[in-house]
Amino acid sequence: MIKLHDKYFKPFVSAKEIDEALQRLVDEIAEDVGDEIPVFIGILNGSFMLTSDFVKKYPKPCEVTFIKLASYEGLKSSEDIQRLIGLTQDLTGRTVIILEDIIDTGKTLHEVHRIFKNEKVKSLKIATLFYKPEAYKKDFKLHYVGIEIPNKFIVGYGLDYDGLGRDLPEVYQLKETQHMTNLVLFGPPGAGKGTQAEFLKEKYNLVHISTGDVFRFNIKNKTALGMLAKSFMDKGALVPDQVTIDMLEAEVEKNTDANGFIFDGFPRTDAQADALEKLMDSKDSHINAMIALEVDDEVLVKRLLERGKTSGRKDDADETVIRNRIKVYYNETAILKDYYAAQDKYFGVDGVGSIEDITKRLSSVIDKL
Ligand code: IMP
Ligand code: MG
Repeated sequence: MIKLHDKYFKPFVSAKEIDEALQRLVDEIAEDVGDEIPVFIGILNGSFMLTSDFVKKYPKPCEVTFIKLASYEGLKSSEDIQRLIGLTQDLTGRTVIILEDIIDTGKTLHEVHRIFKNEKVKSLKIATLFYKPEAYKKDFKLHYVGIEIPNKFIVGYGLDYDGLGRDLPEVYQLKETQHMTNLVLFGPPGAGKGTQAEFLKEKYNLVHISTGDVFRFNIKNKTALGMLAKSFMDKGALVPDQVTIDMLEAEVEKNTDANGFIFDGFPRTDAQADALEKLMDSKDSHINAMIALEVDDEVLVKRLLERGKTSGRKDDADETVIRNRIKVYYNETAILKDYYAAQDKYFGVDGVGSIEDITKRLSSVIDKL
């Protein structure tokens, strides 16, 4: 994913796919043109990269020139087209092929036809690398089309968003959803994860998804997924990852206006982390960070024994049980620490200190994401 000005864009057409589409255009056009020497006219600014790559592939002699038209203002629809540099040579009797980066509404193309109305060219053909059929409102014939794309804003390979992105060798598509901050929150028992999740939720307008709560909710309310999960649990079997992911997806869908999510209790394995990444990808998003509260074992044991005195939770009363839970935590999370660290997404945060201090430390990580 990339950011240009205030917007996020996701990979859409790779450099290799562009190259292949270009080669198809070249082959088709070279075949039709035969032994004539065509004049290729790139429409600036967008088609500078395409024109250069195109003529390098063109197998026979050709001429190249440019006209410069300007239309788009940022993401708005085409304004009236301005002619900044028109035709500078006599094209009488020539075979002319227009090279467009993209044809959207067709306004630019209309202007091109206006420019050629009084030129006595032998033939005028239109070639475009990208074409948005749903947006096209004109009747001009498009003789050569590289790649048809949906009516969504793209950047790269000559195409810009407000000046940026033209230099990219591949093409990106505008992300429809706003930028989200999605966290995987970890912490050993007693680290204060629940308390901190509450603060972060408020501060960043995130939705806290605790897998345990989601399971209990689905089973209690006898949802289809809850019953499915229960059928595995009743057999003493592990609930398959896909069932859990489907439950999480339902939670994500319920909260489409959230600024992001805090995942708590999930993932536990690499496979689950992959599945979670896929889920977020389907929402045009991704996991930004795994944040783990780090607290020394002895501090945890002390805290939990304290808590056990007042909460009455049996698993907080026995030191051996507590130490074992901490050990299990480290065994389980080590894998995920490696998984996210490999993507530079692991952040350990010192979990010893006042609640406010720890919130501050967490915030300073999140604010930098
Ligand atoms: P049309 O005149 O509406 O066909 O649009 C053609 C011009 O609009 C192109 O030459 C681009 O400058 C611009 N344009 C259209 N769609 C996009 C897009 O998805 N990304 C960037 N520029 C675009
Ligand atoms: Mg253009």
